[in-house]
Amino acid sequence: MKENLSINLKNISKFISFEEVVANAQQSVRHLDSLNAGTGQGNDFLGWLSLPDDILPQLEKIEKTARHLRLVSDTTVVIGIGGSYLGARAVIEALSHSFSPLLKNKHHDVIFAGQNISEDYLAELLELLDGRNYSIVVISKSGTTTEPAIAFRILKDHLEKKVGKLLAAERIIAITDAKKGALRSLAETNGYETFIIPDNIGGRYSVLTPVGLLPIAITGLDIRMLVKGAKSMEELTRNNKHAETNPSLLYASARNLILQNGKPIEIMVGFTPKLHFFSEWWKQLYGESEGKDGKGIFPASVDLTTDLHSMGQYIQDGQRILFETMISVKNPVKKLTIPLEKDDSDQLNYLAGKRLSEVNHNAELGTILAHNDGNVPIIKIGIPALDEFYTGQLIYFFEMACAISGYILDVNPFDQPGVEAYKKNMFALLNKPGFEEAGKKLKERL
Ligand code: PA5
Repeated sequence: MKENLSINLKNISKFISFEEVVANAQQSVRHLDSLNAGTGQGNDFLGWLSLPDDILPQLEKIEKTARHLRLVSDTTVVIGIGGSYLGARAVIEALSHSFSPLLKNKHHDVIFAGQNISEDYLAELLELLDGRNYSIVVISKSGTTTEPAIAFRILKDHLEKKVGKLLAAERIIAITDAKKGALRSLAETNGYETFIIPDNIGGRYSVLTPVGLLPIAITGLDIRMLVKGAKSMEELTRNNKHAETNPSLLYASARNLILQNGKPIEIMVGFTPKLHFFSEWWKQLYGESEGKDGKGIFPASVDLTTDLHSMGQYIQDGQRILFETMISVKNPVKKLTIPLEKDDSDQLNYLAGKRLSEVNHNAELGTILAHNDGNVPIIKIGIPALDEFYTGQLIYFFEMACAISGYILDVNPFDQPGVEAYKKNMFALLNKPGFEEAGKKLKERL
């Protein structure tokens, strides 16, 4: 049997005792109960809870489509934003070769678009795609989000001009709502293959649906193992009312107690650049779920040791309003040792023969001690390796903890009303039909 992800609360004990966390977590079992009974806020968005089982019948179709795209093209452009983007990118970057796009003999590139409206980004992407044989996976639950809609219009036009409308239709996959939205109509009119995003799963909880799994499968990663990892975490957390052994309950309670201790900013810390986009996914999950009604912990992130040379000073010594959640990976995928040099001119021979992971591990321990001395509480989440299984565990662990934490804060962790504000203004400023009056008023303010 595989070891599970672990949570270590030793480095918050200066501020909050383990007993206090367990007591709070035990009280929070009622939130777990409301999630399972569907009686809490946002209870029409709880489909993610049972995804590790519910997704199984779809895996074959996802894998088949991924194989098809790998066969007919050398590149897939995945179009989406927010929850329709970050999960796939997080998993792909965590589990792929660090220099994947630059490797010569690899089979398939996955490139992301629709996550910004930068003219340069899309124009340069088209320059690249002129020389590529590519497919498109377009993802939007609402089917109406401006950023991916614009990117899709431009790329669809480019692909149709390149290979013709018929062939393009065979290379475009749409992942969207079963019935509503412009993307659904477009897919039906043009005969694209489609996958459905269930009504009861919000964007940021959708990584274990085709939204995340199709792009991940296209890169050749093992989505069954990812789902298996998530399932094992569901088994450990969903019905586990013994707070002391439920890592999601412990994490949700610990971070809320730290917040009550005057620390409203949580920094996600990883010691490998592979986790950069995992932190981005986590930031969206927590920021969008909790940041409402004037409440919530502000989620930030750093990549260490890189950012110890930029943000390290503030974390060590700036305003004491921070705490850290550190993902600690025990074993790297690859092996590299530091060579011995005869004259030791760089004075590194004390490290000769050591693995880089040992140096990195000691940097991690040194950082924990230093930050703890600087009064930064640290929650440590440990995994034995960064692979599909443990990435699946991390995903379900953080999702479950996020839902519980939202209920502790007494907010709806499954809506995002605040995201609409900029959209309305942008539509009005761009004279979208129906927004003319609002546009006039806004322009007077500029
Ligand atoms: O988590 C969310 O709900 C959002 O981040 C959405 O995923 C994002 O706004 C994209 O929406 P859509 O998939 O409808 O294009």
